[in-house]
Amino acid sequence: MNDVSRPVAAATDAPRSTDRYLGEDAASRSLYERALDVMPGGNSRHTLVMDPYPIYAASGHGCIVTDVEGQERIDFVNNYTSLILGHSHPEVTEAVARVIGNGTAFSLPTETDIRLAELLVERIPYIDQVRFANSGSEGVLLAIRAARAATGRSKIAKFEGCYHGIYDYAQASDSSRPKNWGESERPATTLEPSMAKSLETEVVTLPLNDIEVCGALIDEHGDDLAAVVMDPLPAALGLIPPRADFVAAIRAKTKECGALLIADEVLSFRIDYRGACHRFGIEPDLVSLGKIIGGGFPVGAVAGKADVMRVFDHRDGELVHHGGTYNGNPVTMVAGYETMKRLTPDVFAEFDRLGDRVRDGLQEVLRRHGIEAVATGRGSLFSVVPGDQPPKDFRAVFTARSTAPQLQKIALEMLNRGMLMGARGLFGALSTPMGDAEIDRFLEAADGAAHWVRGSSDPPRATPRSGGARTK
Ligand SMILES: Cc1ncc(COP(=O)(O)O)c(C=O)c1O
Repeated sequence: MNDVSRPVAAATDAPRSTDRYLGEDAASRSLYERALDVMPGGNSRHTLVMDPYPIYAASGHGCIVTDVEGQERIDFVNNYTSLILGHSHPEVTEAVARVIGNGTAFSLPTETDIRLAELLVERIPYIDQVRFANSGSEGVLLAIRAARAATGRSKIAKFEGCYHGIYDYAQASDSSRPKNWGESERPATTLEPSMAKSLETEVVTLPLNDIEVCGALIDEHGDDLAAVVMDPLPAALGLIPPRADFVAAIRAKTKECGALLIADEVLSFRIDYRGACHRFGIEPDLVSLGKIIGGGFPVGAVAGKADVMRVFDHRDGELVHHGGTYNGNPVTMVAGYETMKRLTPDVFAEFDRLGDRVRDGLQEVLRRHGIEAVATGRGSLFSVVPGDQPPKDFRAVFTARSTAPQLQKIALEMLNRGMLMGARGLFGALSTPMGDAEIDRFLEAADGAAHWVRGSSDPPRATPRSGGARTK
């Protein structure tokens, strides 16, 4: 275990790495000005938002990202968990370069998607078949569409506060707030103005870990319910797995009413060689995948048992028509296969060990600086949630987060201490180029940042938009 017990020097007057990015002639500043002219808000993805503007990346190799001012940082965000071998892995890059030289997309199938599908089917005990798409959002969308086709029903249920990408039905209620979330026995389905009003009745919002309330709501909508969508390790709820008895109760309820259980493993698949549901003993009917299975390229997938997946089979009437110009394209498929085959059980065991070091080390840092919070996560994923014990549901996480702004500030101050952290605060993912030395440096930076935030009245130098709760 890393020794982070020594006192950290007080904040010094030494130049801080964000000073350069905030300078009058900083490259990030002028890129942002150009971006604002041609993209609303200057981006194509809200996760990139930072005040006063984002740090722009120039390159990434292994676990190091260099920004456009020339500042290097160890990357603990990994493109929001999608890069598990770090940046530009030499052998994956070489394999991709070979593919690119032979044509990147065809109107004919290739062997490449078969190989990746075979690897996934061999590894994940609860699936027989896979279909690929281009984002995790599509993976979730396809799972929901498959569930509707398989059951002949239309409604879906999801857990309040959980992020499942940008398909309307999955995104409803992902950013509920006290002013609109309603009674805890009957959480409101909250919508953005861009969503169809009819979703208020088509989407049933469930409170995590409340067997009684969820049971009653599933009973009420049971005859119309196509699926319950569940993330086995929801990032927006602090990377805390739902209680085992709760998951068992939901599984039993879905079976009883004839709805399917969809596991969204777009993010959490990276915690186990055989997937997050295997780790937690869950038997879903369908799984949504994404992120790491694309080896750094855009990807999504839906997978499941053959009797459900047949809704995609043109020979059986093609109940879900599934197009997509770049589905299963050889670049993504080869990058995904080359990445996945390097992720052996030993690699996952090492992630468990290093992840435990991060979580234990962070817990010790928090204790030393008198910050009441819990280090959470599994395997290569870690997070910190405020409070003296892990919160049970979204409302508890939201309330705790809104009263503990210093955790966000600590993560931002870590940018000044050589760590790349994102808008989510103390949330991150490990990659294989990291070892004990990187974890030591991370914990030292966290310790220094906690000291600085607790001891200094100055605000940190860069702040993300407040309330950024989504992973993508
Ligand atoms: C759990 C979960 N589901 C779905 C998605 C959507 O994936 P994508 O951003 O690839 O569309 C994300 C993205 O972060 C996610 O974390």
